[in-house]
Amino acid sequence: MGKYIINGGNRLEGEVRVEGSKNAVLPILAASIINGGESIIHNVPYLKDVNTLVNVLNTIGCSCSFEGNTMIVNSSGELNINIPEKPVREMRSSIILMGAMLGRFKRVKISFPGGCEIGLRPIDLHLAGLKLLGAKIVESHGYILCECDKLHGNEIHLDYPSVGATENIMLAAVSAEGVTIIQNAAREPEIADLQEFLNKMGARITGGGSSTIRIQGIREFQNVEHTVIPDRIVAGTYMVAAAITGGKVVIRDVIPEHIKPIISKLGESGCKIYRHDQSIGISCSKRPNAVEFVKTMPYPGFPTDMQAQMMALMCTAKGTSIFIETIFENRYKHAEELIKMGADIKIEGRAAIVKGVNDLMGAHVVSRDLRGGAALVLAGLAAEGTTVVDNVDTHIDRGYDSLDTKLRSLGADIAKDEN
Ligand code: UD1
Repeated sequence: MGKYIINGGNRLEGEVRVEGSKNAVLPILAASIINGGESIIHNVPYLKDVNTLVNVLNTIGCSCSFEGNTMIVNSSGELNINIPEKPVREMRSSIILMGAMLGRFKRVKISFPGGCEIGLRPIDLHLAGLKLLGAKIVESHGYILCECDKLHGNEIHLDYPSVGATENIMLAAVSAEGVTIIQNAAREPEIADLQEFLNKMGARITGGGSSTIRIQGIREFQNVEHTVIPDRIVAGTYMVAAAITGGKVVIRDVIPEHIKPIISKLGESGCKIYRHDQSIGISCSKRPNAVEFVKTMPYPGFPTDMQAQMMALMCTAKGTSIFIETIFENRYKHAEELIKMGADIKIEGRAAIVKGVNDLMGAHVVSRDLRGGAALVLAGLAAEGTTVVDNVDTHIDRGYDSLDTKLRSLGADIAKDEN
């Protein structure tokens, strides 16, 4: 399980380096199936989710090896089209293996992704997109069998700009005959990074990062070498760590353009933020002001993956903030735990009303999902006394590489108890 023990009150100061993006590397690892050859991927973070996907790749017949932060995947030869059930049930994003496997082998069997703490998260848009490319999909006993004689390009209009569905369709369409156009595609930077990786492999994709993506299918792919973009959510989390402790931190290896909505909200709360080419300085000397309104939206709106961390900050702000979560229907589990620490939060459907309090108090709290867990750590950094955050291995380790070590290097009093 693992827990963090945090003695709050230390002002964070110094420099921290952001690791490669979890949400970029996962589809890139799936994409490494497509070339039937070698993919050299740099800036891969050490994360539980990366391990899970690498184990799946190894199980189906790829060989993956880590050298520092570089991962080498060799996907030559026949791979097993039966994706093992356990990891897919544990990690929903393994569903992106479907598009890549279907494109290369024209057949894949995968289990339905399991329930999720932050909402229902159906995959109807993924399946509808793959069907439009020519896949026949049979669902039975919790499994999806997806097959085709060949894939053909098509025009696909997504009802909602789903990140995973956009990626799954791209991963299949690169091997389809003809042209695929995805309209109302997700515009997240991780989609543009996937496009870059696939194009280095030989694919012909344009528009990744905009709402219309054009994919000309091809037959032969080549070996590829690529460096994953920095993790914008991790960068945002360290910015909030500085803000909540009244600290002064330089965050290295970020793409400031990717975190504009976070910069904007932290600016509104009174932090001074300095943008450089690949780093950001943040300095926050007094109690933050409440941000009137935080509404999560698809990129380039305020990211749902930063909602919990921003809420932790607003718990300590002067005044009242209103949060509206538009992406996931059940993403306020951290609020119950923040309340145990003295926060004043009321939840009303998709809205949360947060009245800032003078002081948070250390408490024993449980992380229920990845970003909610990070929010509890942030609250613990600011709280009076000791906070214990439980369930670190299950959730926080999925998406943060050495969170405790990096926070300690900034002056935080945080230790990990592995039991
Ligand atoms: C990705 C990110 C996740 C982030 C989310 C939204 C990865 C590995 N994960 O998740 O960190 O929080 O984007 O920015 O990149 N939906 C449907 N039907 C579908 C697909 C999605 O109804 O077929 C709904 C979901 O239930 C959810 C919303 O669309 O309410 C957004 O989901 P989506 O953009 O697909 O998120 P993920 O790709 O799962």
